[in-house]
Amino acid sequence: MTATIERGSATAPIKTSADTPAKPAPRRSGGFLGSSNGKKAVMAVTGAAMVLFLIGHMVGNLKAFLGADSFNEYASFLRTMGEPLLTYRVALTLVEVGLVAAVGLHMWAAISLARRAGKARPVKYAAKRKSQASGYAVHTMRYGGVIILLFVVYHLLDLTVGVVNPAGFGSTPYDRLVEGFAPSRWWVTVFYVLAVVMVGLHLRHGLWSAFQTLGLAGGRSYRPLKIVAAGLSALLVIGFLVVPVAVMAGVIK
Ligand code: HEM
Repeated sequence: MTATIERGSATAPIKTSADTPAKPAPRRSGGFLGSSNGKKAVMAVTGAAMVLFLIGHMVGNLKAFLGADSFNEYASFLRTMGEPLLTYRVALTLVEVGLVAAVGLHMWAAISLARRAGKARPVKYAAKRKSQASGYAVHTMRYGGVIILLFVVYHLLDLTVGVVNPAGFGSTPYDRLVEGFAPSRWWVTVFYVLAVVMVGLHLRHGLWSAFQTLGLAGGRSYRPLKIVAAGLSALLVIGFLVVPVAVMAGVIK
């Protein structure tokens, strides 16, 4: 079917939708997990699991203030938890496998959401507008995430395995802590401070994004939830950093 519109003295035929058969809308494969909401849910669930781990880890680290025995006892509990139902280190290995899966899924969802955002806007904004998808936040999240991952690898070699720690492999966790952050190795503490601050920034933005995804962050709750995201992140950063700083200052020795 063809209609005619008149513009001045000229006439031009235009096509109406009845001329072309309707194309079926492109179908996204992958169901819920293939959708943006599904990926955001994966980010939120894996993020929450990592935050729970971080809270537990931070509280456990504070045992260093109670002395070597208390700290080593906590480190040994990590390996013996679940006994006698489970054998030595089984529960800890399950936690480790869960954490690796959480990190992997979190990164997968982040990368595929970023790709989708890029495809939705193949042409860059003409104005240099800092949007959620191209501004400061996306850079802190993307590069911050990679730095945190590299930090965790170094951190495991340092305090779990001991291969980059002066106390060495066969030492106790407390010795690795005290020798690793010794005043003469102040640069290690500086590195940990930077990395943990990065974790805090990542967490603050992640929590804020999760509140927005859940539709909680509008109207009256905007400011209180911004404060919750910043406050919880700051608490975690301070709780983590008091230990290396106290070792470097000679308070824990
Ligand atoms: C600056 C503060 C931190 C200190 C003093 C610290 C200390 C420790 C210590 C002593 C261990 C070894 C425990 C043991 O072998 O029994 C450990 C393990 C670990 N830490 Fe940290 N940590 C800190 C921050 C972090 C952060 C920010 C993350 C994550 C982003 C992290 C992730 C881990 C992981 C994944 C393990 C291995 C847990 C396992 O044994 O499976 N740590 N940490």
